[in-house]
Amino acid sequence: QKIYLADYTPPTYLVEHVDLTFRLAPKNTRVLARIRFVPNPAATSRDFFLHGELLTLINASIDGTPVTPTLVEGGLSCDVPDAPFTWESEVEIAPIENTALDGLYMSDGMYCTQCEAEGFRRITYYPDRPDVMAPFTVRIESDLPVLLSNGNPADRGADFAVWHDPWPKPSYLFALVAGNLVAKRGSFDTMSGKHVDLAVWTRPADAAKADFAVGALQRAMKWDEDVYGREYDLDVFNIVAVSDFNSGAMENKGLNIFNTAAVLASPDTATDLDYERVEGVIAHEYFHNWTGNRITCRDWFQLSLKEGLTVFRDQQFTGDLHGHATKRIRDVIKLRARQFREDNGPLAHNVRPESFVEISNFYTGTIYEKGAEVIRMLRTLVGPEAYAKALDLYFARHDGQAATIEDWLQVFVDATGRDLTQFKRWYSQAGTPRVAVTEDYTDGTLTLTLRQTTPPTPGQTDKQPLVIPVAVGLLNPNGDEVVPTTVLELTGAEQTFTFSGLASRPVASVLRGFSAPVILQREQSAEELAFLMAHDTDSFVRWDSGRALACQVLVSMVRDHAAPLPAYLDAIAATLADETLDPALRAFVLDLPSEESTAQTLFDLGATPEPDAIHDAHEALKNHLAEHMVTLLPQVYAACQINEAYTPDAAQAGKRALANAVLNLISRNDGGATAEMQFTASNNMTLSLGALHSLLDVGQGRAELAAFAQRWADDRLVIDKWFSLQVSLAAPRRLLAVLTDLTGLESFDWKNPNRFRAVFGAITSNPAGFHQADGSVYRLMADWLIRLDSANPWTASRLSAAFDGWRRYDKARQGLMRAQIERIAKTPAISREMAEMVGRMLG
Ligand code: ARG
Ligand code: ZN
Repeated sequence: QKIYLADYTPPTYLVEHVDLTFRLAPKNTRVLARIRFVPNPAATSRDFFLHGELLTLINASIDGTPVTPTLVEGGLSCDVPDAPFTWESEVEIAPIENTALDGLYMSDGMYCTQCEAEGFRRITYYPDRPDVMAPFTVRIESDLPVLLSNGNPADRGADFAVWHDPWPKPSYLFALVAGNLVAKRGSFDTMSGKHVDLAVWTRPADAAKADFAVGALQRAMKWDEDVYGREYDLDVFNIVAVSDFNSGAMENKGLNIFNTAAVLASPDTATDLDYERVEGVIAHEYFHNWTGNRITCRDWFQLSLKEGLTVFRDQQFTGDLHGHATKRIRDVIKLRARQFREDNGPLAHNVRPESFVEISNFYTGTIYEKGAEVIRMLRTLVGPEAYAKALDLYFARHDGQAATIEDWLQVFVDATGRDLTQFKRWYSQAGTPRVAVTEDYTDGTLTLTLRQTTPPTPGQTDKQPLVIPVAVGLLNPNGDEVVPTTVLELTGAEQTFTFSGLASRPVASVLRGFSAPVILQREQSAEELAFLMAHDTDSFVRWDSGRALACQVLVSMVRDHAAPLPAYLDAIAATLADETLDPALRAFVLDLPSEESTAQTLFDLGATPEPDAIHDAHEALKNHLAEHMVTLLPQVYAACQINEAYTPDAAQAGKRALANAVLNLISRNDGGATAEMQFTASNNMTLSLGALHSLLDVGQGRAELAAFAQRWADDRLVIDKWFSLQVSLAAPRRLLAVLTDLTGLESFDWKNPNRFRAVFGAITSNPAGFHQADGSVYRLMADWLIRLDSANPWTASRLSAAFDGWRRYDKARQGLMRAQIERIAKTPAISREMAEMVGRMLG
């Protein structure tokens, strides 16, 4: 049942108002709906269809007269007047049995909801599509102490609460929470002087971990006013932390629901990265209030309209608050790991897909992160002022609407006069473009030739040239910048750009700030890369040159069993010793490419990646680095010790990141002695986990792992870290045994998505373990995916992407992986979500 963007038709009836009453009970919740429908003048038919799944219909009426609708797969249809009417229905649902965590479900005795994308149809019969927007009034009947829904509180009694949300919204933004919760409170006065009460709700045991979230929310609200002129529009803003949650968080109007992992933080349980992520996700969900809620998507093909834009906004926010250089590097690492992998395999799809079976399979790196990159490029091309003007126009023109990518681009056309016809291909063409760079220098003129190609992706064989902004700068041989950052617009398949009047042959710094989501193909000598690492003014290119060099070194270590280039080792040492450089940036230079990315690089070079050999090369390189810098490492380590009390700010976090990175190499020289001391002395999770990581990396840490498990036995989020560390750092040959042990533990609560992901999501960071030649880990993974799929298709199907790279490997491994993917596909009662994923992987 594939659906197509091209088949879009407007809804036949619009909704004027929704009244819902919930009589909560775990096994038999009753949902009463009273919905005012009006014919849509823009519609071409008067067929009346309401979505509904897993609902028991008790009764229904139209304008007070009982009706007997026709129940069909996925909903009901009914004869209705060609005029406004009131639909009433009562249905029964069983939240306690909802293990899919989609719709109304229970977690730790509390009721909560997740409706995006199509969960509302599991709550009541409704036109569950984003272009039907309506104000909601919700009455919750329950004797639980805290009863929450969207909008503003309207009434409260001993065993009921009424909420009213005046802003028309699609059903996917509906939310309800009921439970025994406590609040951390705060407030925010908006730029026009409106007072907003803020609350972050948690289980009582987690109360102390909610303070940071309140502050983060206030920072996000302020930033959105200052930078985008966006003001909050209700009297209250509630956030609820839930232990069982499929994704990170959800932007329900006025009532955001969060995975505990994306909202709770305290120094002894959360790492610096967790803090940054929590603040970033809170900002992301808050920013959705305008980019997603006030302006929503016409249909789910437009998902990137809200997600790409909101990711871009949260990236800007984190960069503004904590530094753009480190934020950009982190984002590019993530993009390459998650989105490039997707774009280069069988799951590649457009930023705006043209068809799908299950929209839930499209909450992907492409929709989110590549979508954000496309907006970043647009901003680079038009400039920040024109971008701001276009955004103002977007908010003014489309407030209260369900919009499309065309609407989005049109505001840029109207605000800037630019023709975006070619640029629009970024939305309709999948695959990661390759940009080959060659240079020629004659008589004071440098000619850069840029050639773009995009490899074919499933269902899309010929690719058109894209508009690619390539930010370039030139350095002279003593390291001074002779041409500052200039954005070249590559629009043709091949184009040349010249820089004249140069006194000597310059070194070109290309793709500064990672100005486009492309793979650069450029022959660069080790000397030139080391030069850029040392001298470029652009911190991204400085870092990426180190990456490119590390990549070259790793490839030659794997393919030719070469020793690492001395030039590389010296360049790393020089960077590490450079005290003028931000410690966070120095830490990144030690962050080697992942084994996964080396595998992809080898594959792109026409080789068949051999996971064990890649793993060995990575280990050997780390050992070489440790040996090469044997005296420098302890000096750097000593210099980044912190004596003040813990704060998660960028300055301290940078020092800890460097300490942990250096510790990892030191452990190869001292057998883990320093790491043991760090573990014992640490009073924060960043240093504890860093120490544990280093110990496991050198085959130590048994006692520390046990002590850690005991100390944190009651803290699920910390125990998740304990699980995932053991999986990602297991010696490849031991991974199967580690997985068998961990999944046999009573604490392996596999129905909890965080716990399942802690184990099976971590497998991808241990490719040599995953790709054990006997196929044993493939089989175990498939067994568990099949099991999870029967309870929770959303989480199971996205983890199945672990198999997406199967065609890259040797014939034997291909066969073993393919057999497991086929076994999943042939499992009776496999979910539609999973069926679509494995079908796409098989191609
Ligand atoms: N819209 C949410 C977010 O920001 C994600 C929803 C994911 N879907 C889900 N079924 N949990 O970004
Ligand atoms: Zn989002």
